[in-house]
Amino acid sequence: MNAAVLSNDEVIQVSPLSAHIGAEIGGVDLTRPLSAEQVAAIRAALLKWRVVFFREQFLSHEQHVAFSAQFGELTVGHPVFGHVEGHPEIYSISKFRKATRFEGQALLRPWTGWHTDVTAAVNPPFASILRGVTIPPYGGDTQWTNLVIAYEKLSAPLRQFVDGLRGVHRFAPPPGARGTGAFAQAVEERALVAEHPLVRVHPETGELALYVSPGFLKHIADVTPRESQVLLELLWEHVTRPEFTVRFKWEAGSVAFWDNRSTAHLAPTDIFDLDFDRQLYRTTLVGDVPVGPDGRASVAIEGSPVGAAAAIALN
Ligand code: SIN
Repeated sequence: MNAAVLSNDEVIQVSPLSAHIGAEIGGVDLTRPLSAEQVAAIRAALLKWRVVFFREQFLSHEQHVAFSAQFGELTVGHPVFGHVEGHPEIYSISKFRKATRFEGQALLRPWTGWHTDVTAAVNPPFASILRGVTIPPYGGDTQWTNLVIAYEKLSAPLRQFVDGLRGVHRFAPPPGARGTGAFAQAVEERALVAEHPLVRVHPETGELALYVSPGFLKHIADVTPRESQVLLELLWEHVTRPEFTVRFKWEAGSVAFWDNRSTAHLAPTDIFDLDFDRQLYRTTLVGDVPVGPDGRASVAIEGSPVGAAAAIALN
């Protein structure tokens, strides 16, 4: 465990959970405003460990928003699926997801598997903050993987090869899983497609991350479909190697805070084999436009950048 003693005698404990990713942070109460030093210590741990966890933090929606706002500007709950009624910055992640913005129709889309949040936008959120409220007694764990170590563990020739590639990320629920009526229409109208570098430069640390979000990355640009398929399978298998990952067992009051610029994560599917309910709430922070090692920025193909919740007129 690393204990950071701050100048006002506060102590923050950072306990790593695996070799490359994940640390639990203790000694801080997220229901209250944090000191500048606490914010800096948490941010440093986030940059180093990619995802940080807190226990026994029973936040209200308002406290969740207030905690998140200390690290950046909040986005609208979800650019396609909307937000919790009365809380524009909060996205509900329930076993049977509801898009309250669209007449409460259940989202029938199956879980997308490994992904980085909203990479179909030209400026995917830089971080996500997820809090557990109703948690099954067993099952329902979430996993994260470190995309920086994944890049570093590629062979040098392969790193050089992927450095110049770009990928097209698309948000599109599978056919038959789009709901009906106004809901389906809203999903169509809010289509998001972006081209990102396959390797992105982390804007705070300068590290290179293998930016391959399996749920949203549909193909590699400028190669044949077969080349794209084989390359993506190779890269997806690589980024999800167990030694790059951490697995988190939720409790009510747990909070996970992760850096979307250097991680992908896997939502659980075993909950559908169990009768228990599962309810979490997520905020996301406005991100920048990724840039590749060659200095080329991502471009939007469809849809607008994800803006701050405060700046969006919600209907
Ligand atoms: C997410 O993909 O942001 C949610 C992860 C989870 O439900 O564990």
